[in-house]
Amino acid sequence: MSAHGETPPKKTTVRSLQARKQAGEKIVCLTAYDASFARLIDAAGVDVVLVGDSLGMVVQGLETTLPVSVAEMLYHSQLVRRGVQHALLMVDMPFLSYTTVASALENAGRFMKQAGAEMVKLEGGEDQAEIVTALVNHGIPVCAHLGLQPQRVHKLGGYRVQGREASAAEHMLHEARVLQEAGADVMLLECVPAALAKQITEELRIPVIGIGAGKDCDGQILVLYDILGVSSGRQPKFAHDFLKDTGSVAAAINAYADAVRSGRFPSSEQSFD
Ligand code: KIV
Repeated sequence: MSAHGETPPKKTTVRSLQARKQAGEKIVCLTAYDASFARLIDAAGVDVVLVGDSLGMVVQGLETTLPVSVAEMLYHSQLVRRGVQHALLMVDMPFLSYTTVASALENAGRFMKQAGAEMVKLEGGEDQAEIVTALVNHGIPVCAHLGLQPQRVHKLGGYRVQGREASAAEHMLHEARVLQEAGADVMLLECVPAALAKQITEELRIPVIGIGAGKDCDGQILVLYDILGVSSGRQPKFAHDFLKDTGSVAAAINAYADAVRSGRFPSSEQSFD
């Protein structure tokens, strides 16, 4: 108990995320790119703060995440680290920073040692299994990322929902199983039909976090700027401007966290069939 009689939030760990899944308690995640916003997010009791390579688009004003460098991710992760006490700090491995076991270990090691990262996230399917195993065998927790993978936007032909056709859905389920067996601690699904995300969430032992993947995932993540209505261009269908509803940044973050915990977010409006 604190001096004010409130129970201070507990530190989020890989184990506590797993326990959340088992208890059926939703996991709240949000991106951050600097210390001040990270402090507000942490104070709202958000479980996981992701330094996303989305910073290329929302902070740097780029068209894609592809140009974001390890040095830039490291710098922003160090800033965010200073604002986070309780949440688990997850850092995105940027494009082409994990093409070999050696480069993945080198770059993930920098995020852990120089920025205090507690988990790294990497995009890709079964082709990444060897990298995932190497990282976890060296004590680096991993979040795998399936569905829409923004680092593969040119190969995918745009930012579009993944896994709609039966064969693609079956393949995603297979890849999710392979990545779990490779040692991934968390699975992130981006822009996946809600029914498929539900199936993957029910099948996997590890927590599944969704963005545009329906309400049945174990947790949700959004890009901070999307809940504050300051992203450039059109608001993604899966996002919601909580600042418009509340009037302050702190209240918007709290409203997002409450909406995820209570299962009110996402609604069918923010999901894909
Ligand atoms: O880069 C990022 O912010 C992400 C989220 C969209 C999940 O990967």
